[in-house]
Amino acid sequence: MRTAILALLMMMCAAQTAFGANNSVADRGTTGTIAADTKDIKLNPPDKKRGLPFMETLSVRASVREFSDKELSLQDLSDLAWAANGINRPESGKITAPSAMNRQDVVVYYFLKSGAYVYEPKGHVLRHLVDGDFRAQVVRGRPSAPNRPVSVPPVLMILVSDGKKFGNGSPEMKREWGAIDAGIVSQNIALFCAATGLKTVPRASTDRAKVKEILKLDDEQYIVLNHPVGHAKE
Ligand SMILES: Cc1cc2nc3c(=O)[nH]c(=O)nc-3n(C[C@H](O)[C@H](O)[C@H](O)COP(=O)(O)O)c2cc1C
Repeated sequence: MRTAILALLMMMCAAQTAFGANNSVADRGTTGTIAADTKDIKLNPPDKKRGLPFMETLSVRASVREFSDKELSLQDLSDLAWAANGINRPESGKITAPSAMNRQDVVVYYFLKSGAYVYEPKGHVLRHLVDGDFRAQVVRGRPSAPNRPVSVPPVLMILVSDGKKFGNGSPEMKREWGAIDAGIVSQNIALFCAATGLKTVPRASTDRAKVKEILKLDDEQYIVLNHPVGHAKE
């Protein structure tokens, strides 16, 4: 009898690990949904049925700068990434956010407790870039330019427009279109959060030199906005 109970308990533990019962980002590597042999985060297919109706979403959209420590679930992270700039028309490869000439210049980087990642719409995956928790440094902004305080969120997204995607356009044109395109991705993020009860704020302020160094960005990769995302502080 004791052996049977032990076997049952072991089976339950294995099932919990395989199906990610505690499916938070902090638990990545222990769940079956995340590839075990790599630090990349394989995202779930988006849940396209969730969230408030559109007009209600607009009614509750608001900037929030204080977050609790509660992690996002893997589904939250997956849906957030897809809403921001995921592929919504697989036949053409087009994404949820329009972009000038469909250049899809906005690349979204994710700072999590476990490191920095870049979202690849093709594959719907967060590609691991670097280990380490940089969220506090990045969210703090430049010491010389204090701005409204933001608590350290579980997820910090950085929206970067890659000017190279616009070919030989002038630097002014690249900046202008890059900023517009990033603004649209930003609003996708804000509306997704409003619809699903998550909290965020679009922010221009960050330590750009630090972000550039961590992410190894080149001079044509323009850091436009950042979005802390998390749950409301109780
Ligand atoms: C382009 C842009 C840059 C912003 N930069 C910051 C920022 O650096 N820090 C911050 O706390 N809020 C920032 N915000 C958020 C605004 O302060 C906020 O949207 C505004 O006060 C209106 O509040 P609401 O979003 O709740 O309507 C920014 C918003 C935008 C659109």
